[in-house]
Formats: sequence, C-alpha cells, structure tokens
Amino acid sequence: MNRIEKAAVNNPARRALQRFYEVPALLDMAGGPLAPGSRAVEIGCGSGYGTRMILDRFRAASVDAIDLDATMVGKARRRLEDRRGRVRLAVGDATDLKAAFGAEDGTYDAAFDFAIIHHIPDWRAAVAEIARVLKPGGVFVFDEVTAHALARPSYRKLFVHPTRDRFSAQEFLAELPHYGLTVRGAFTKIREDYLLGAAVKQASDGG
Ligand SMILES: C[S@@+](CC[C@H](N)C(=O)[O-])C[C@H]1O[C@@H](n2cnc3c(N)ncnc32)[C@H](O)[C@@H]1O
Repeated sequence: MNRIEKAAVNNPARRALQRFYEVPALLDMAGGPLAPGSRAVEIGCGSGYGTRMILDRFRAASVDAIDLDATMVGKARRRLEDRRGRVRLAVGDATDLKAAFGAEDGTYDAAFDFAIIHHIPDWRAAVAEIARVLKPGGVFVFDEVTAHALARPSYRKLFVHPTRDRFSAQEFLAELPHYGLTVRGAFTKIREDYLLGAAVKQASDGG
C-alpha cells in the first residue's frame, strides 16, 4: 500500500462503515458469531482493526493475523496489546500460512479477508491457501475490491495495485467452488466496486 492508501484504509469514516454496516452484513452471511473456542486466521491484517472485530464481533477465541508489511504488523501489535494472549501476528505472505504459522490443512474454523486479495498478484493462490487451511464447515468471510473499482481513474491515480488479471465480483465468486468453497451469501456495493460475502468449506466428499 502506498501512503495515500494507508491513510484511506485507516480513515475514521471507513472504520465507521466497517463497524456499523459491513460487519453486521458479514456476520449475517457468515451465519452469526463463531462457535465458542473457534480459531480464525486473517490475511492482510494491516493495523489490526479487523482483527479486533474478529475477536469482539465474530467472537473468535483466537486469531492468527498476517501482513506483508512489518510497519502495519507493528501497529497491529500495539492496537492488540490488550488481546495479546489471543492473537498471533506474523510478517509474511498470505499465500503461505504454513511458513507463517505452521498451519496444516484444516486448521481454522474461519478465515477473514478485509480488502487484501486484490493486492495479491496470484490472487487464486490466496483463495486456494484459505481453502486449504479451513476445516470442513469453516467459513471464509470476504470484503473485496473488484476490477471495476481498480479501473476507476481515481483508484489508478491514487493507489498502487497489480493491474493484470484482477477480478470482477462474478469472477471472484465463480472461483470459490474450484477450491471447495460454497458461497453462502454475497452482495456488491457502489455499483460493482466492492464485494462482500461468506462461503463455507465443504468436506472433501462434497458433504
Ligand atoms: C487495503 S490494505 C487492508 C488492511 C486491513 N485488512 C484493513 O482492512 O484495514 C491491504 C493489506 O494487505 C497487505 N498485503 C498485500 N499483499 C499481501 C500478501 N501477499 N500477504 C499478506 N499481506 C498482504 C498489505 O500490506 C496491506 O496491509
């Protein structure tokens, strides 16, 4: 993220939108708060605001949270100081959760993506890694930025993102079943700019 995007994502208006609008909608599509004792992973945790919501609103017992940017992980560490025993933070790549957390197949009850997968050049690898580490029945909660938004002159001028092979909302949703993820609910906002939804990892026999 460049300096302008850092300011935009950590802006109080976006946080209010997340807190009062997006999280209730995501909770609804995810089927409500997680079961007691649930383990979650968050990719691209940034400054840890989403991590707090995963603990407090989705009621995960613990969260493994990762970001490529060590400065953001440092901010997250400070924000989550009072939740220290429930959060593991790592600097690393979302496409390799084994390297970061030793995550085996089927480790987590829930995985969260708050606006990060559109930053990853091989975005399908990130979806595949999420599906790998989810338990059967585990939920993938996503809030993504689509190619529609990334093509806007304002986005292109102000922010830096990979430009090749970005996804529309339909393309993102269509990719999930390839990794055993069944979409449970999804909607777009601001025309097709943003995609919010939840998908469930099926058992390998499809059940
Ligand atoms: C738009 S920010 C969103 C941050 C946070 N989730 C939020 O909603 O405030 C995207 C974040 O993804 C991180 N990121 C980008 N590529 C990544 C990757 N391959 N693995 C882990 N994090 C990555 C960036 O460093 C950045 O903090």
